[in-house]
Amino acid sequence: MKRKHFLQTVLGASIGSSITYPFQNLDKQTNDQLLKLVERPVTGSMYAYADEAIPKVRVGLIGCGNRGKSLIEMFPYLIENGFAEIVALCDIRIEERNKAAEKLRQYQSTVPSLYGKDENDWQQLVKQDDVDLVLICTPWRWHTPMALYGMEQGKHVASEVPIAYSIEDCWKLIETAEKTRRHCIMIENCCYNDEELWLLNMVKEGVFGDITHTEGAYLHDLRAHLLSEDYYEGQWRLMQHKERDGNFYTTHGLGPCSMYLDIGRGDRYDHLSSMSSRELNLSKTAKAQGSPHTDIMCGDLNTTLIKTAKGKSIMLQFDVHTGRPYSRINKLVGTNAVHDGYPSKLYVDNGELIYWGHKWLEPNEYDAYKEKYRHPMINKLESISKNFKQGHGGMDFVMMYRLIRCLNLGLPLDLNVYDGVMWSAITPLSELSVVSKSTSVVVPDFTGGLWDKHNVVEIMRDI
Ligand SMILES: NC(=O)c1ccc[n+]([C@@H]2O[C@H](COP(=O)([O-])OP(=O)(O)OC[C@H]3O[C@@H](n4cnc5c(N)ncnc54)[C@H](O)[C@@H]3O)[C@@H](O)[C@H]2O)c1
Repeated sequence: MKRKHFLQTVLGASIGSSITYPFQNLDKQTNDQLLKLVERPVTGSMYAYADEAIPKVRVGLIGCGNRGKSLIEMFPYLIENGFAEIVALCDIRIEERNKAAEKLRQYQSTVPSLYGKDENDWQQLVKQDDVDLVLICTPWRWHTPMALYGMEQGKHVASEVPIAYSIEDCWKLIETAEKTRRHCIMIENCCYNDEELWLLNMVKEGVFGDITHTEGAYLHDLRAHLLSEDYYEGQWRLMQHKERDGNFYTTHGLGPCSMYLDIGRGDRYDHLSSMSSRELNLSKTAKAQGSPHTDIMCGDLNTTLIKTAKGKSIMLQFDVHTGRPYSRINKLVGTNAVHDGYPSKLYVDNGELIYWGHKWLEPNEYDAYKEKYRHPMINKLESISKNFKQGHGGMDFVMMYRLIRCLNLGLPLDLNVYDGVMWSAITPLSELSVVSKSTSVVVPDFTGGLWDKHNVVEIMRDI
């Protein structure tokens, strides 16, 4: 990839015109200087931000592909109880948009406005007077422009993952949220999974002692999806793998890990180092399938190590090329306990020093911890949600319920603009490190210095 194009992708659109090349090699010092070029003044003022209560949240959904249609299925309970209404749908693929409208008809008697006559028609949806919340389920390149425009038009916005993949876009999202006082969140559903919420509850109850290390990942064999000509509109996701190398899907692993570590609520990422393996699996499969897309740039497995300001470490992996069972790893290491995911196992240290025979908890002991420390939100929502489709084992419903109810009640949301940006920014930073021989890259402080001052973990609240 041409270096100018690389820097535009990683740093942001403005960089191409603002620098010509004094830099021969990307090294730590150069990387840090480059990051400074796109930095914006932010204040952290969206921490604990609550807007006026919205008794019925009127939603405009952009992108009615796989994800958009499945998120509609999280709404029946919210619609039935008058908490939400989907008032507009947009997709440039009219057939998919109509399928989404058809699905919605099963749950909702009012008819949404329909958009999608061209790739900018979503702006008309955003401008529709009665839209309170814009839900963005499009390919990645649209997330930031749609979120920015939404806020500028006075709307709250919730975007699918990742909310941005250039550093400049990360800054712009925060700057715009702070300026417009609109909620801007990335809807990271894995933060709402039963197991992750159970671990978070145990962290808060002190079961793990002091946390030293976590591991998260997105290990998901997506070869069939990526190479299909139908699954992702225009094979948009495969194109990313042809043009970039790093960790493109940080947030499913990093979101929950960041909650365990109090990132943005007492700690922050300080620096990272990232390395990708060689690429073999996707191109080999493409060749075997007769696909013309054999020129893959993204390595099969990316490993990124992040150190926090308070000295904790995170190991994050990304691999969607290799045939293997799904995993987000979900490892958590503390001074009193250790958890490993996939499958979930727990070790609790009883303080006794032994030479041999350290064992994971027996199933009955494990179950007792599971029962005792289940997140109260899950107990509460289980009875509500059992009659409804829940999505990804339940977490999608819990996420959508919490988002809509926080807006109904005029409460700060569980996730904020800083969370979405911090978790997403690891993608371009990983690319910068990969291309410069895994050199250490500083992670900008996107919170205006407030990461240490706001310790409310909203996702732990009972609402
Ligand atoms: N959180 C999760 O568990 C999860 C799961 C799947 C996908 N996702 C995310 O959801 C997003 C969408 O993924 P997907 O699998 O649904 O992809 P998809 O290709 O099935 O759907 C994207 C849709 O956006 C539409 N679109 C593209 N440009 C548009 C425009 N300018 N205006 C209106 N519509 C436009 C496309 O026509 C398509 O129907 C991605 O960001 C992905 O990362 C998240």
